[in-house]
Amino acid sequence: MQPILQKAQPIVKHKCDKLSVLRYNVLMAKSDNIIEVEHFKISFAGKTVIKDLSFSVKRGEIFGLLGSNGSGKTTTIRALLGLYFADKGTLHINGKQFEPGDAVRIGYLPEERGLYKKENVFDVMTYFAHLKGLTNAKTWIMDYLKRVGLEEFAKTKINKLSQGMQQKVQLGICVMNDPELLILDEPTKGFDPVNRRLLMDIIEEQHKKGCTIIMITHYMDEVERLCDDVLLLKNGVARAYGSVKDVRKQFNNKTLDQIFVDVYGEKEEA
Ligand SMILES: Nc1ncnc2c1ncn2[C@@H]1O[C@H](COP(=O)(O)OP(=O)(O)OP(=O)(O)O)[C@@H](O)[C@H]1O
Ligand SMILES: [Mg+2]
Repeated sequence: MQPILQKAQPIVKHKCDKLSVLRYNVLMAKSDNIIEVEHFKISFAGKTVIKDLSFSVKRGEIFGLLGSNGSGKTTTIRALLGLYFADKGTLHINGKQFEPGDAVRIGYLPEERGLYKKENVFDVMTYFAHLKGLTNAKTWIMDYLKRVGLEEFAKTKINKLSQGMQQKVQLGICVMNDPELLILDEPTKGFDPVNRRLLMDIIEEQHKKGCTIIMITHYMDEVERLCDDVLLLKNGVARAYGSVKDVRKQFNNKTLDQIFVDVYGEKEEA
């Protein structure tokens, strides 16, 4: 018996290896969707904010998360990033729940901008550059500050900058390591048209490098120009969802701006 077994072993092993490799490839193959949300529900103090929300974000696309003030956009992102716990449902990034270790590959521009206000711009950016493992931090930071018109503010404390300036710094921190996924909660809020375009150019460059982008915005012109897919939230569910083209088709080819107004003007069924 012994010799037969010994002979058989390589064949069996070979088969197992092939199978294992196949299984591994299937498991590790990057799904087309970088984000998958299924039947997400969340409430605060008995008030349901998201009732039953399912959507996915394709790898490499720009996805617009839309809805009126208080509709639950920021809440959805916070739940996706593990900052809020869902009452029900699953929220996956790259096939699993977010873990703090994943943060390096994700650039998140939160609604509440948060930087170390008493430190200067250069030091704050350098700190994050080291956390993100940037090798050419100094050159990258100075080039970025020059590009966004903040070169002379490198040694200025964050709390001495205007809101828009602080936001530029924070966007720089988000994109400095060319993340796989950028989540931007109203990135151009409060910007003048020139700076808005500048920021959108920086975001578009990331997209061209292969980054997936989820963008919350109230500017429908940005959405029409940039987004592949959109989701319009109302009353805790997706009221419109799909490619910009398909969504417009569903609403008689109206502009997204008009669709938004129409959806929010609808009377609710009793
Ligand atoms: N931590 C919290 N505790 C209690 N209620 C919350 C909390 N976070 C969000 N909410 C509530 O959830 C609802 C959705 O808030 P959210 O911030 O997600 O809205 P939004 O769509 O991002 O709005 P906006 O466009 O104004 O930023 C609001 O009614 C808000 O009061
Ligand atoms: Mg919000």
